[in-house]
Amino acid sequence: MRIGIDFNESALDKGQLAEKQKELSAGQRRLESGKEAFTGWVRLPEEINKKEIIRIKTAAADIRRKCDAFIVIGIGGSYLGARAAIEMLGKKGSLPQIYYAGHNISGTYHAELLEELEGKEICICVISKSGTTTEPGIAFALLKDLLICKYGKEEARRRIYAVTDRNIGVLREEADREGYESFVVPEDIGGRYSVLTAVGLLPISVAGIDIDEMLSGAKKMMKPQLFLEDDAAMYAVARSRLFSSGKVIEVFESYEPRLFYFCEWLKQLFGESEGKQGKGIFPAALQFSTDLHSMGQFLQDGHQIFFETILNVEEPPEDLTVPESAGEHLAGLSMNRVNRAAVYGVMAAHRKAGVPMIKIDIPALTPYYFGQLVYFFERACALSGYLSGVNPFDQPGVEEYKAEMRKVLKDS
Ligand code: PA5
Repeated sequence: MRIGIDFNESALDKGQLAEKQKELSAGQRRLESGKEAFTGWVRLPEEINKKEIIRIKTAAADIRRKCDAFIVIGIGGSYLGARAAIEMLGKKGSLPQIYYAGHNISGTYHAELLEELEGKEICICVISKSGTTTEPGIAFALLKDLLICKYGKEEARRRIYAVTDRNIGVLREEADREGYESFVVPEDIGGRYSVLTAVGLLPISVAGIDIDEMLSGAKKMMKPQLFLEDDAAMYAVARSRLFSSGKVIEVFESYEPRLFYFCEWLKQLFGESEGKQGKGIFPAALQFSTDLHSMGQFLQDGHQIFFETILNVEEPPEDLTVPESAGEHLAGLSMNRVNRAAVYGVMAAHRKAGVPMIKIDIPALTPYYFGQLVYFFERACALSGYLSGVNPFDQPGVEEYKAEMRKVLKDS
């Protein structure tokens, strides 16, 4: 089975979607050629080194044995993919408990984290492709000190795992010098396209999630057949046409809280890939039904500058029956049925308001479909970037802020 992409409410028909076939085919060829920089993720699900997967699973099993608190240190592409998978698929309450650090520079957040870790057996994984990013750099220093203080230098080294570039950066130097178990971020894969490398797979595997299933899900979405059957290409065209008609914001919507970080990952993927040279669709995310009671007003009745991409989970993992005391209209119904009524009710209301909608049907929250979703959106995002004439794999704006922040620190 595959995730389904439903364009019926997108205000576009197949003919309109096919119009950009020529441009799209060129983009498809660029991706498949293997010659474009930073497109290593395109072939990754098929070509990923089997020995690397075994090493990741072995390290994950060691981590699970050694600790009850595992801290993933990283930001942006070195953080969001793993968190998206763990929040979507991880079992609540299972050990080790996973914490995140270095995705902000808040002293309060990190002080509270250190407090929370007191008395716990700890392992940490620092993830940074460049090995020079400020946020994870600070968090790593804090947590390394904690480990050395708690276990001594030798044992601390055995509890530190690093994922970074093969050759360059201070993190690579330190990992090699200190003998941390380390993994490589392939040089032809950028941060936000790296969830199916050790960047995502190590923390995801520590959380007890089946990474083989995830990779076979991604594989299923490779090498799309005919143009009109390439869902990612069609989605890229739909986005581009909607943008040309004044829909400058894409609102990702989900009705399952477990998808919150997946939506964060989507915001990063599209925002950082497309938002350059004065171009790009602004990616936003809303969680329903919560945000229906706030932003729902704007969507229905406000300035119509957006389209919606609905992440619809067909079979959520759990369900409950609404008790009798909830009143006769609701009593005895399954909560998932009520939630589904919200999905279709909101769509009906937004149809009346003329909001274009694309629905992504996700059969279930499993590693297999997570892999499919990741590959589908990465491919769609890359093709969208090609269509709008930007490089979807660089992030000059992010580099700009990093440099300016270093200057401010130096001058103050
Ligand atoms: O997608 C990207 O390239 C960025 O979001 C990076 O992942 C982020 O800036 C972190 O960089 P690094 O992994 O070098 O610490």
